[in-house]
Amino acid sequence: MAYDIKDIALADEGLARIEWAARDMPVLERIRERFARERPLEGVRIGACMHVTTETANLMRALAAAGASVTLCASNPLSTQDDTAASLVRDFGIDVYAIAGEDDATYNAHIDAVAATDPQIIMDDGADLDTALHTRFTDKLAGVIGGTEETTTGVVRLAAMAADGTLGYPVFNINDANTKHCFDNHFGTGQSTLDGIIRATNRLMCGRTLVVSGFGYCGSGLALRAKGMGMDVIVCEVDPLKALEAYMEGYRVMKAADAARFADVWVTVTGDCNVIDAPAFENMKDGAILCNSGHFDSEINIDWLEDHSVKKQELKPLVEEYTLEDGRTIVLLAQGRLVNLACAEGHPASVMDMSFANQALAAEYLYQHADELQNEVYDVPAAIDDDVARVKLETLGVSIDTLTPEQIEYMSSWKF
Ligand code: ADE
Repeated sequence: MAYDIKDIALADEGLARIEWAARDMPVLERIRERFARERPLEGVRIGACMHVTTETANLMRALAAAGASVTLCASNPLSTQDDTAASLVRDFGIDVYAIAGEDDATYNAHIDAVAATDPQIIMDDGADLDTALHTRFTDKLAGVIGGTEETTTGVVRLAAMAADGTLGYPVFNINDANTKHCFDNHFGTGQSTLDGIIRATNRLMCGRTLVVSGFGYCGSGLALRAKGMGMDVIVCEVDPLKALEAYMEGYRVMKAADAARFADVWVTVTGDCNVIDAPAFENMKDGAILCNSGHFDSEINIDWLEDHSVKKQELKPLVEEYTLEDGRTIVLLAQGRLVNLACAEGHPASVMDMSFANQALAAEYLYQHADELQNEVYDVPAAIDDDVARVKLETLGVSIDTLTPEQIEYMSSWKF
């Protein structure tokens, strides 16, 4: 085996945590059991670039049970759980290249190590491995059957590649499966972002003002949970429809530069760059805590902060205080990287269960239907999405009604 992890001796702790997560991932467990019987990915080389968490570990177990040979690197330098990485190597035969806190050079070297295995299926979260293959490893593109992409940001990058004709293989867009974004993005980000902020700062949330930039599935989930904790929530949006939706939900909606006067805690979840920029910094309340829950560390203009600060102090790991020229202080969490994964453990297993069930089933579908696919970004087949919802309900012990023949006829007729 080949790997680069922090310490294999951490494997016992990792194994216990992977099994704890597995208890709340029953859909994926059923898939793993079927995969172990049917071996649908026998001998297939999978290269994965994902957050190395206990939930991802259970996805890797399912792929290994299907007969795949899996190599995994991190999709963010701060999100790796070193004990999980150790257990994946020792207990599950997964080659892992990931160390929490790795610098950019190591992060890229780890991606290169996965690319060097000549992967046939790419499983990406943010499209960094896809990008490496389309830039530094173009000689390996022909050997790739296809890929799957976990997150909004990665889908945006891949859609841009497809639009300019450079996408080298078909990719399934996991993010837009209903059983992914309606739960993972909304409820997962809502809870895990607050979890990250609280673990990092141990500040009382109720009574404080939280500004959220972006009111998509992630931002609206965060706003909902923050409101439920007694926070006063302000929303910043650029999309008029989403801004209106936020307003009708009862949140104050305003421009970033205005929201800056009120923010005790400010979270960006837009997927864009420089969402918190000079006009907001200039008005910002003293002591504001800033963080990001979007995929990349591009949303807060950290260069502005660096350039306009007279002092920078680490208060505790991943909590840094900048003192501006006029004496105001601003606290930045996790260097502007994903706060939920850097300061906490990411989304809970129960939602990742559905996201990763989609991943596992889409990889199987991709392998079985490779001949029919073009170099495009595809939606996850509706049958897979529906099946994940049905099985999740079943594992939760929830039964629902079915339409009667009379109701089916009524719904398909225009003559009453
Ligand atoms: N993305 C968000 N939360 C995650 C988790 N717990 N594991 C892997 N990827 C994630």
